[in-house]
Amino acid sequence: MSTITAAITAVGGYVPEYVLTNKILATMVDTNDEWITSRTGIKERRILKEQGQGTSFMAIKAAEQLLSKNNINPEDIDMVIMATATPDMPVASTGVYVASQIGAVNAFSYDLAAACSSFLFGMSTAARYIESGRYKKVLLIGADKMSSIVDYTDRTTCIIFGDGAGAVLFEPNLEGLGLQDEILRSDGVGRPSLKIDAGGSILPPSNQTIADKQHFVHQDGKTVFKFAVSKMADVSEKIMQRNNLTGDDVSWLVPHQANKRIIDATSRRMNLPQDKVMLNIHRYGNTTSATLPLCLFDYENQLKKGDNIVFAAFGGGFTWGSIYVKWAYDSKQ
Ligand code: UT7
Repeated sequence: MSTITAAITAVGGYVPEYVLTNKILATMVDTNDEWITSRTGIKERRILKEQGQGTSFMAIKAAEQLLSKNNINPEDIDMVIMATATPDMPVASTGVYVASQIGAVNAFSYDLAAACSSFLFGMSTAARYIESGRYKKVLLIGADKMSSIVDYTDRTTCIIFGDGAGAVLFEPNLEGLGLQDEILRSDGVGRPSLKIDAGGSILPPSNQTIADKQHFVHQDGKTVFKFAVSKMADVSEKIMQRNNLTGDDVSWLVPHQANKRIIDATSRRMNLPQDKVMLNIHRYGNTTSATLPLCLFDYENQLKKGDNIVFAAFGGGFTWGSIYVKWAYDSKQ
């Protein structure tokens, strides 16, 4: 009997219409296009402006886009994993709501939170359910409404983040395609460097926490940058080494889109030319859980069956890792 591997068989994505450019940001905080572009690679990001719409709104759009494009009946989905750092609400899983809204009435669902590594860790989780042989269609969605936790008077964070959603479907594969290997890591040493202080069980929300702006995301950018540059490159190099892959063998790097300089450091270590690196940071900024699937969404028509693809991410916590995938289908366009 052949071994079951877990392959990505469909991709979907969604970004909100409103475009927040560097130029607009420069009217809100003391910054400028030159600084943002040279330090991060970001030119603009999308923001979900409408009142009352949360992360689920974008997740549903991305999932529905995937389902309709690929003629998939939502009733056939076994499971929905919702990777997010900005759930609709602290209790009542966003994924459960999304699954019901898209008509995945036979699925079970839950949220998976590992900051910017949520989607990467979700790939590992989705793959295990498929490889077990018990589940045939696992929908993994990465979505974040970062604008809901960003302080638009703080120039060190508001220039980085954007809103968006992406989705992929995992299905069993009998040709050995799909997820091949993974290196996933975490280290609580990073907790003080990237966090929201209030709103959790340590510091429940109060008038004081609001006044002190403790419900916004805070990061020590320099420390996060230093860890991200070395850790993301380390695991990406290691996964190539232990799978006997050279830069020539790798078709694509799909890196978390936090800072172009972090991406460049990783691709340099992997000996990859720029044209093998998926990039959309200039258009979307850092969409946290959505960066990896939005890259796939943007580049899907360039992918070929058998392509060796290395995914890499680094996020708060700290959390980070690398996953090696053999792509399972030729472009459907
Ligand atoms: O996705 C999850 C993980 N997150 C990340 O990976 C983010 C990692 N960190 C970063 O990407 C970078 O650290 C930032 C983009 C956040 C900041 O870039 P940096 O090169 O580390 O800048 P810095 O914090 O060292 O600041 C350099 C200077 C400072 O001024 P002084 O002290 O040198 O006078 C800042 O006050 O730039 C100033 N600055 C700005 N100037 C214009 C900081 N933010 C801005 C801004 N516009 N938006």
